[in-house]
Amino acid sequence: MAKIGIFFGTDTGRTRRVAKLIAQRLGEAADAPLNINRVTAADLAAYRVLILGTPTLGDGELPGLDNGAQTASWLEFMPQLEGQDWSDKTVAIFGLGDQDKYPNEFVDAIAILHDAVTGCGAKVVGETAAEGYRFNRSQSVVDGRFLGLALDQINQAALTEVRVDAWLADIQPHLGA
Ligand SMILES: Cc1cc2nc3c(=O)[nH]c(=O)nc-3n(C[C@H](O)[C@H](O)[C@H](O)COP(=O)(O)O)c2cc1C
Repeated sequence: MAKIGIFFGTDTGRTRRVAKLIAQRLGEAADAPLNINRVTAADLAAYRVLILGTPTLGDGELPGLDNGAQTASWLEFMPQLEGQDWSDKTVAIFGLGDQDKYPNEFVDAIAILHDAVTGCGAKVVGETAAEGYRFNRSQSVVDGRFLGLALDQINQAALTEVRVDAWLADIQPHLGA
């Protein structure tokens, strides 16, 4: 069976750690997670099922040099997605944020990745309920649900493993490659 590809952006390493947790839970089904600043669009295109992770930086933005990240990240990668045909792909997105400090832009970057990959024709799975968080606004909430898995390693770190496990169980039927 073809493996699942896991790609993440990060500034301070939290999203990398969650990507590794997801990979560990998926075991043989997934390849080792790769930082998006080390790959090309062709590396992603090699998979039919992708799990993409991102923190939100700046003012509800993707991580990258222009948004204060220490290294290049999703922001620099995004132009490579333009014109890609991902109509054969299924994508699940997880995003890290800080609901206490950024209650008006909580995990907004999930929506940015969501819109980019659906623009390439991909099917996105793994919406989650927006209950259990405290924030005012998020671009990533549509009809009361997050467009992916929202995680807060700063204020709700103790919930992350349970949230990841529930999410993986939920999207499991879509992960077969
Ligand atoms: C400069 C800066 C801006 C941020 N902006 C947001 C934001 O708009 N929305 C949000 O939910 N979190 C925001 N955060 C919180 C980060 O997403 C959070 O710290 C995350 O865990 C970082 O993940 P990383 O360690 O993978 O970089 C911001 C953090 C920093 C340092």
